[in-house]
Amino acid sequence: MSLVPEEIEQLIEELTLEEKIQLVHGEADPEGLATGYLSGVERLGIPELRLADGPLGVRARGHPATLFPASIALAATFDPNLGRKQGVAMGREAKARKQDALLGPGVNLIRVPHCGRNFEYYSEDPVLTAAFAHSMVTGIQSEDVIATPKHYVANNQETNRASVDVDVSERALRECYLPGFKAAVDAGAGSVMTAYNSVNGSFMSENRSLVTDVLKSEWGFDGYVVSDWFGTVSTVGSANGGLDLEMPGITREEMWEVFGLELDVDEEGTVFDETEDMSAGMPDMSNTKWFAEPLAEAVRTGEVPEERVDDMVTRILRQMDRIGLFEGDRGEGNSTENDHRSVSESIAARGTVLLENDGVLPLADGVDIAVVGPGVREITTGGGSSEMDALYEVSTAEGIEDRANGDVLVERGLPKVEQVSFFGRDEDDTDQRPDPRLEDAVEAAATAEVAVVVVQDAATEARDRENLRLPGRQDQLVEEVAAVNENTVVVVQSSGPVELPWRSEVAAVLESWYPGQSDGDALAAVLFGDVDASGRLPVTFANERDYPTSTEETFPGAGGEVHYTEDLFVGYKHFDVSDVEPTYPFGHGLSYAEFSYHSVEAVDERQVRVTIENTADREGREVVQAYVSSESVGEDRPVRELAGFVPVDVQAGEIVTVDIDLEDLAFAQYDDSEGWTDLEGPFTVEIARSAGDTRLEVTL
Ligand code: BGC
Repeated sequence: MSLVPEEIEQLIEELTLEEKIQLVHGEADPEGLATGYLSGVERLGIPELRLADGPLGVRARGHPATLFPASIALAATFDPNLGRKQGVAMGREAKARKQDALLGPGVNLIRVPHCGRNFEYYSEDPVLTAAFAHSMVTGIQSEDVIATPKHYVANNQETNRASVDVDVSERALRECYLPGFKAAVDAGAGSVMTAYNSVNGSFMSENRSLVTDVLKSEWGFDGYVVSDWFGTVSTVGSANGGLDLEMPGITREEMWEVFGLELDVDEEGTVFDETEDMSAGMPDMSNTKWFAEPLAEAVRTGEVPEERVDDMVTRILRQMDRIGLFEGDRGEGNSTENDHRSVSESIAARGTVLLENDGVLPLADGVDIAVVGPGVREITTGGGSSEMDALYEVSTAEGIEDRANGDVLVERGLPKVEQVSFFGRDEDDTDQRPDPRLEDAVEAAATAEVAVVVVQDAATEARDRENLRLPGRQDQLVEEVAAVNENTVVVVQSSGPVELPWRSEVAAVLESWYPGQSDGDALAAVLFGDVDASGRLPVTFANERDYPTSTEETFPGAGGEVHYTEDLFVGYKHFDVSDVEPTYPFGHGLSYAEFSYHSVEAVDERQVRVTIENTADREGREVVQAYVSSESVGEDRPVRELAGFVPVDVQAGEIVTVDIDLEDLAFAQYDDSEGWTDLEGPFTVEIARSAGDTRLEVTL
């Protein structure tokens, strides 16, 4: 039986203050599984609650789970329906591992191209981000698991993430950074995780105006707000600001014990290992009991009203009830992991973006291939809290070997790109292979009909990438291979944009992000054209100096502050008004098919109807994009905004008509004094293949 609101009220009346306090801060999971744990109150039948990372799959120690592609790869599918499928799969797997809440999705906007966590986020565009935030939360929660969109808000960099104050206009918050969270809340998210950083002078864990006023009052969020791990900074300020749950509530030592990790700390308290200084990205982990006894004391002295604590507990109990915990519904999840393997593989394939192609792709059956690159014998993924043990792994080379009918030569060419691992995923120490030699890779490439060079970056939570270049000598590897083989295909596995200085010297370039556990299978399917190359860039690719965050003031900030002076001009909105052409525009991605855009008409004020034809002799998948502009806006606003998009499969020679819904966000503006108002028309809707390739226009 689930509880009615009166029964929750009744429970609150019966709980002692100490018991309430026990429900608003974490403890160590006795089973050593969960990232966050609440013990419940046995006396009153209040169950335990387990929270597990994270956006790419379920991390529960000792219980491998499906490792999905990076969130940015999912967004590159431009297909929110795949987001819902992934959410359902993760929800099921969480349940089967006795986890009640997932610490994801990550819905921060990609503002800084080399932010260390871009692989855990979706896009530089709020409409695209919101679509995936909504579908992912819907999917996860359909399985009676709590989704936790994070990190609320403006956690757009890892450098100094726990101390930096973000100076951002209310308008940019409303129009760029908040819509992803709003969409997650509209989808019914049961929890929201606050960011480590501070926004406009107040740490997010105690930011009353964003947590209480915007999230809870304005948006009507009735779930619980949880701190990021070790991200609570006060007792009274946080409680009164609207934070409901402190995590992890245990010391770093206890936490590492739960995870079975050895804690490596130097005298200054720098954690992890001697080679990597992550301290600029780590929170202060020394005080972890803000919502324990100090909160009880603050209630006793009247600094925090007891009603506030009642509200915290009510919010948590309501979610426990919603997912059936009071009915004893735990761990009953029926995890059909084989199905999830195909969901993960199809997201990886559909999210792969064909950046360049002189016709070498798709590969002819039976062709002889050299597969080279430092990580071809592993799968590539990111570091930090979304690290997990994958159920199974198909390395890049293995997938190609399985699919190819011709000869496949594999040479790494370079030593493994150093990755930072929080949870011991890195198996460098056990790698007994001799150091690979670049000459061997070049020689292999010279003898093959096609050379596939797989390059990668290395990204992790708690640290931003140093720059947008590929680490080590990977550019050299590509150049030397391209010099001996004119059919060189480069596959980039990266967390976000990278610079590709050799792109005009090679035959084709694919961006496959971090493709998850089915890495090689998904890549082979795209290389051989078993599926169309249908991914589109959810971020603009450009040279580092050309992004709006290329000054110290805008990233990583100075004197403890970072200024979002570009305001609304994030991503393509910046490049639309800059003199610089990006390398690859937002939305870009080639196809193996060919699409001709026939017509567009307005159905009503928020919908357009577009007719396209696949003029190729093979099926293909197109992503039809709609960008809205209004002549009446001034220079302080972007010239156009993505308003909608539709992915569509089209048979060879087929003509299809698609309806695209246009989001209100593209027709509205936020003003400090007026709040939300409609932009003035007339509006032009550009129907485009990317932000750099408009095919049709219609006026609304
Ligand atoms: C990350 C969160 C994560 C939490 C728990 C923090 O370091 O910022 O995204 O959910 O750890 O692992």
